[in-house]
Amino acid sequence: MLGPHFSTLPPLSLYIHIPWCVRKCPYCDFNSHERPEGKTGLPEREYIDALMADLEVQLPEFWGRTIHTVFIGGGTPSLFSARGIGELLAGVRARTRLSPEAEITLEANPGTFEMEKFAGFREAGVNRLSIGIQSFNDAHLRALGRIHTATEARRAIEIGLATIGNVNLDLMFALPAARAGGVAQTLQECEADVRAALAFGTPHLSFYQLTLEPNTVFAKKPPPLPDHDQAADMQLRVEEWLRHAGYDHYETSAYAQPGRRCEHNLNYWGFGDYVAIGAGAHGKLSTPGGPPGSGQRAKIVRTERVKQPRDYMLKALSVDPSSCVFERRDVSRADVGFEFMLNALRLTDGFPAAWFAERTGYPISLVSRALDEAEQEGLLVRTHEAIRPTEKGQRFLNRMLEKFLPA
Ligand SMILES: C[S@@+](CC[C@H](N)C(=O)[O-])C[C@H]1O[C@@H](n2cnc3c(N)ncnc32)[C@H](O)[C@@H]1O
Ligand code: SF4
Repeated sequence: MLGPHFSTLPPLSLYIHIPWCVRKCPYCDFNSHERPEGKTGLPEREYIDALMADLEVQLPEFWGRTIHTVFIGGGTPSLFSARGIGELLAGVRARTRLSPEAEITLEANPGTFEMEKFAGFREAGVNRLSIGIQSFNDAHLRALGRIHTATEARRAIEIGLATIGNVNLDLMFALPAARAGGVAQTLQECEADVRAALAFGTPHLSFYQLTLEPNTVFAKKPPPLPDHDQAADMQLRVEEWLRHAGYDHYETSAYAQPGRRCEHNLNYWGFGDYVAIGAGAHGKLSTPGGPPGSGQRAKIVRTERVKQPRDYMLKALSVDPSSCVFERRDVSRADVGFEFMLNALRLTDGFPAAWFAERTGYPISLVSRALDEAEQEGLLVRTHEAIRPTEKGQRFLNRMLEKFLPA
């Protein structure tokens, strides 16, 4: 078989990227840009128009399919007004088939919280909030270049819980010392952050190990960090503390109370489809192909949009809005096994074996050699229902994934 074959199409999500922040954090490699200063402020109206043009031009590629989740990420989407987010979601509803039960998440930075605005986000249809807390320790927040204090972080969580209720907190561990020669985060400080987060009882928590990403200020001038063993110890202990507090560790960095997993991210990890709009946003869409003889082949297409907000708006609002997409590539038969596993093996409970064929369009025999090897090395287990990474597989995820790389 040359190309993929889909008997049903994967579930569909929508990702909306808002690319501005108050200030760029020195560790961050997301497509985020300091907001324009002065009288002009954020070009909110123009950007929403550009998002709608980007969405409209893609409609034929997912016509008739239901969107199950929406994620408004950034950058700092909470810099937008409640009215702007309301117009954005109304525009999405008017143009697509958005499920009335859709999970709709908005990312927020604690330096941007006002009660009234967040009540407005709720009115606009946002029903899940993801707040970038990072730490409750002021020295670490300063070392991370954050725009908020621990007190502001606590206040933001209270506002989030009072207005939207369904809240995720993002935290990081293995944090830097505030200055050269200083002491990096200790296990006790990491535990204090975990306990502080748990005290709010939010249904979802994300704990990321701070990584030095290329092309960031930290990569150019690395701060003192905990060593590899200390960071690995923190990861293990975070898992243990959260498990004791009743959270399922369901993905490498994600923890949820029963029934409160993030549907949107689960769709990424399950190799679902997602329409993407916004500067630098990445999309993935599967198309079933036309009837025999039509010449239209089934395929999985990945797209990436121009990163600079100004260029993105210019292109999306031009006579050819599709020019905001600068890269478009079909996922090849050689790459699809690796791309599927890169996502699905992050799920600690694994995934139903049938998902592979459903979501890649190829039989699972495409990756049987790699699966056999990983199983023999104790990195994963296969049952009738599922393929699941073992604890060893979770620790050595990259070693396992290498087996699925194209020869
Ligand atoms: C796009 S940010 C969204 C939240 C919002 N922009 C903020 O920072 O408040 C998503 C999350 O990724 C995590 N993150 C960003 N850069 C990271 C890095 N270099 N290492 C580990 N986690 C990182 C942070 O926890 C952050 O909250
Ligand atoms: S606020 Fe969030 S998205 Fe913006 S620079 Fe900092 S980590 Fe990156």
